[in-house]
Amino acid sequence: MVTSHHKVFRRVLTVSCCLICAVLFFLYATKNQPRPRRPRPASSHRFYPSNWTLVNLKHFEFLLNSDACETRHIDLLVIVTSHPGHVALRNAFRRALPMEALRTFNISRVFLLAQINPSQTGYHQVDQTIIEEEHLNFNDIVQGDFIESYHNLSYKHIMGLKYSIHYCPQAQLILKMDDDIAVNLFQLLDLVRSKSLTGLQIAGAMLTGNERNPVRERASKWYVSRYDYAPSKYPPFVSGWAYVTTVQAAIQLVRHAESSPFFWIDDTYVTGMLAALSGVNHVDIRTRFTVFADHLKCCLRNDAVACDYFVGPSGDDAELVEAFHRQSFRCKIRIDSCRAAFNESSDKPSFCVITNLPSQTYDKLDGRIIHGQIVPLF
Ligand SMILES: *[C@@H]1O[C@H](CO)[C@@H](O)[C@H](O)[C@H]1NC(C)=O
Ligand SMILES: *[C@@H]1O[C@H](CO)[C@@H](O)[C@H](O)[C@H]1NC(C)=O
Ligand SMILES: *[C@@H]1O[C@H](CO)[C@@H](O)[C@H](O)[C@H]1NC(C)=O
Ligand SMILES: *[C@@H]1O[C@H](CO)[C@@H](O)[C@H](O)[C@H]1NC(C)=O
Repeated sequence: MVTSHHKVFRRVLTVSCCLICAVLFFLYATKNQPRPRRPRPASSHRFYPSNWTLVNLKHFEFLLNSDACETRHIDLLVIVTSHPGHVALRNAFRRALPMEALRTFNISRVFLLAQINPSQTGYHQVDQTIIEEEHLNFNDIVQGDFIESYHNLSYKHIMGLKYSIHYCPQAQLILKMDDDIAVNLFQLLDLVRSKSLTGLQIAGAMLTGNERNPVRERASKWYVSRYDYAPSKYPPFVSGWAYVTTVQAAIQLVRHAESSPFFWIDDTYVTGMLAALSGVNHVDIRTRFTVFADHLKCCLRNDAVACDYFVGPSGDDAELVEAFHRQSFRCKIRIDSCRAAFNESSDKPSFCVITNLPSQTYDKLDGRIIHGQIVPLF
């Protein structure tokens, strides 16, 4: 009797152990399985086409897509090229100018991302789950399946234009900008409207002189071989920091991207080479761009002014991006509370003036962040 009891007990024990193991294994296995695709917008097929190409990529797919425009009236669609690791910068935009606030001005915004490059270092580490979480919260991410790299920025740029054509064709204007740039959307929009930007045009900061020479020093991050680009000057182009264009122009730029050679420096390629092929011309608004992050900081010292500059670099400073965008929004909704004093006849800033800088560094728009001594004249 004792032994048979023992046997039953041991059998029960074995079965229980097996069951527990099986449950544990099941939990472990499901935890490590790829997560199911995150919720997608209702019209999933339209937002996740399987037959897209992008420039010379034959099997392009969206990892995430957004219906940010819906069928609403859109005056301005803002497409922001963003590195997956720049969560803080994206959140700075969202805090200063939340989607609901933009909506009241008929503005919409998406961030353009590529696929996380696991071998890329030096950025805040994020993984795809975090990006998907972000998209669930804000529904404002457009992520392509090409790999994140500065050599792939042209893909991201064209993806943004193609997104605009297909998912926001009603937009009156498109603003393409980088996530580390601060822009006064409202003043920029007013300025571009005052220039009656229509059809095949791009308004931005035109590059001049040496800025249009390909970099031939091998050590430079921006080195371009004569094989990649032979001529000694690029066609006229505008800075990719921020520019405004139309859907009609975007259609032509994208069309030519799919039928002409690829070039990896995205602003030169899109607003220069493709613009030349497309018959898209430029409207120069460079007087409203500063290359100094300190210029923007200077403007922020006084609540009562609208900065002379509508566009400037932040040096990856999320706080500066947020503060500048907040200030521009405040000036928009309480128009009388900000004095604008840009002297149109001299094209010179009047609030924040640079001193102690050699003159040739003053007007250089080549992507460097320059810290000068900026004197407020409030
Ligand atoms: C892709 O598929 C959609 C839906 O089937 C179709 O309407 C569209 O014409 C296709 N596009 C291309 C480029 O084949
Ligand atoms: C936004 O668009 C609607 C519909 O066209 C229009 O009635 C409204 O005045 C616009 N709002 C702004 C701030 O332009
Ligand atoms: C650019 O993206 C393509 C497509 O995903 C990839 O094959 C290529 O390696 C990427 N380029 C760089 C420099 O990472
Ligand atoms: C604007 O600039 C012009 C030309 O330099 C100058 O004559 C004028 O006094 C300036 N106006 C103001 C308000 O500073």
